[in-house]
Formats: sequence, structure tokens, C-alpha cells
Amino acid sequence: MAVVLGIETSCDETGVGIVADGRILGAALASSMGQHARFGGVVPEIAARAHLESLVPCLRSAMEQARIEPSEIDAIAVTSGPGLATALQTGLAAAKSLALGWDRPLYGVHHLAGHVAADTLEHGPLPDRSIALIVSGGHTSLLLIDDLATDPIVHLGDTRDDAAGEAFDKVARLLGLPYPGGPSVSRAAAAGDPDAIAFPRAMLGHGYDFSFSGLKSAVARRVEQHPGLSVPDVAASFQEAVADVLTRKAVAACLEHGIDTLVIVGGVAANARLRALAAERCAASGITLRVPPPALCTDNGPMIAAVGDLLVTAGHPPATLDLSADPSAPL
Ligand code: KG4
Ligand code: ZN
Repeated sequence: MAVVLGIETSCDETGVGIVADGRILGAALASSMGQHARFGGVVPEIAARAHLESLVPCLRSAMEQARIEPSEIDAIAVTSGPGLATALQTGLAAAKSLALGWDRPLYGVHHLAGHVAADTLEHGPLPDRSIALIVSGGHTSLLLIDDLATDPIVHLGDTRDDAAGEAFDKVARLLGLPYPGGPSVSRAAAAGDPDAIAFPRAMLGHGYDFSFSGLKSAVARRVEQHPGLSVPDVAASFQEAVADVLTRKAVAACLEHGIDTLVIVGGVAANARLRALAAERCAASGITLRVPPPALCTDNGPMIAAVGDLLVTAGHPPATLDLSADPSAPL
């Protein structure tokens, strides 16, 4: 059994987690989200400075929670990409210092592999093959997963424009709802009729790519042309269009590839309508749906430690200390 320390700094969350044998021993998280709100998006320089301030306190807090000494840690795992270059570099510098100071092996982890591995911390090891839908403010990806530690992840589809969470955030702004948009649109939608407006569903030739910019423009047009419209009805109809496309494609991918497990992660996986529709459609097709709790859906340290744990267990060779950030890392 390996005890792995994981560090995540790819965007605006500083995450540190300690994982052993698929279990979280300690975790700490800090976020600079509030500092970016007035700029309408994450500012890399602000995120990097915030990571520098938060890394040591998060490390202390996770170690205290785990009641662990440095000598009990077997390996250090860190997100090497994709993500914001300067933000990634802060985590890499911290991880390398620890690996050097404690004389422990260092593992670079792909951020999306981390998102998928997060679910193993809640529901145990993944089956031999699964499909993962990663839906957050930065990603909308449909992935075919074999062995997270040894096999490359296959991208079945990605968004061609906005990420799903970004679409929620932009629509919230159009409707005058507060940031972050996902929770506020979903709260407004609870009082609305999802069938009130038939917003477009971009199926893009029935492949597995996604597009949300046309939907966002359709909402903008609607708001412009009908100033007195019901915000809950627009929110509910928009949310329904997003949940419909995401779940339809994810289930179709499972059926086409003969895979019976779908994992949904990322901030948008907190959306109650998405979860309900996914559960309904998976059940109808004999697919097991796995969605971790919200704290494991969004960026966090334990998910990176979880991949590190898999890499150590698989006997994967560690990285050298010149491991560099790969902001646009391919899978
Ligand atoms: O994974 P995450 O915390 O951060 C990254 O983007 O990496 O995802 C944040 C995104 C935001 O766009 C937010 O609006 C969206 O997830 N989100 C939601 C909900 N909660 C958060 N979208 C829809 N419904 C929600 N309940
Ligand atoms: Zn992420």
C-alpha cells in the first residue's frame, strides 16, 4: 500500500490530498474564485499568486488531518497539465521541492485522469472499461477509459466552443443571475417549465463533439426579443437542452462501445437535472451511473493523489525533477 500526496494547481483551486489504498487520509482546498469574479473569468497571474500563498497552509492542513509525518509519505503526485501555465508551475515547484527534500519519487498527473480517478475515492476501483463525461467550467469531454494508470485515455468528443459550465455562467449573466452561473441557473430553473421554450440541441452530425455557443446565442436572442419573459422558464428550458445533449451522447457512446459504466464528474455534475436525466437514461439502457459527491467533482488534491496511487501500484516509472508543465497536454 502506498501513501501518496497529491497537489493540484491547474486553475483557481489549490488542492492538496493524501490518499492511501483508495482512501482519503487528509485533504485541504483553497480557492481564488472570488478574486476573479469581477473579471468574468480566471486571471492566470492572480491564480498563480493565490496558489503560492495557499500551498503551504493547505499542505500543513492536509498533513495534520491525515496525522502523518513526511517519512510516512511514499510518493508525490502533481498535476502537470493541462491547465494555466503559471498556475501549474506553482504546484510543480512545490511538488519537486518536496520530492527532493523528502527523497521521494515524483509523478506527473494528467488533470483529466485526476477528475476520473476522483470517483474511485467514493465508489472504489473502476471496471476494466468505462466512459467518463467531464463537465466543468473548463472542460466538456467524453472519454473512453481503459486502465487509468497504464493506457492512454481516448477522447471520443470534446466541446468545439464553450464548456458546459461556461454556458451556464454566460446564460446566468444574460438572465441577470449571480456568478457562478451553474447553481444560480439551476435554482431559478426549479420554478420554471423545462418545455416552455424549445431551445436548439447541437447534435453535430451525431458524433460525440459538443457545441453550446448556438444555445447561448438562442437564449440571448430570446431575452432580447421578449424582455418580459419568465426567467425560471428560460433557465429551465436552457438547462434541459444542456442535460439532454450531454446525457444523450454519453449514453450513446456507452452503447456504441459496449460499455456498461458511465462516470460523470466536474462542477456541472452537481446539477440535479443532469444527474436525474442521466440516472433515468442509464437505467433504461442497463448502464451503471457513477457520480461522486460535489467535493470530488470539482478540482481537488485527492484526485491527483488517487492517480499517483494507481501509477505507484502499477509500477510506473517516476518522473525526473525536470518534469515540466504541459499547459495544453494531449491525453
Ligand atoms: O469543476 P469546476 O468547479 O471548476 C472548473 O471549471 O475546473 O466547475 C465549475 C463550473 C462552473 O461553470 C459552474 O457554473 C458549474 O461548474 N456548476 C454548475 C452547477 N454547480 C457548478 N453547473 C450547473 N449546475 C450546477 N448545479
Ligand atoms: Zn478540472
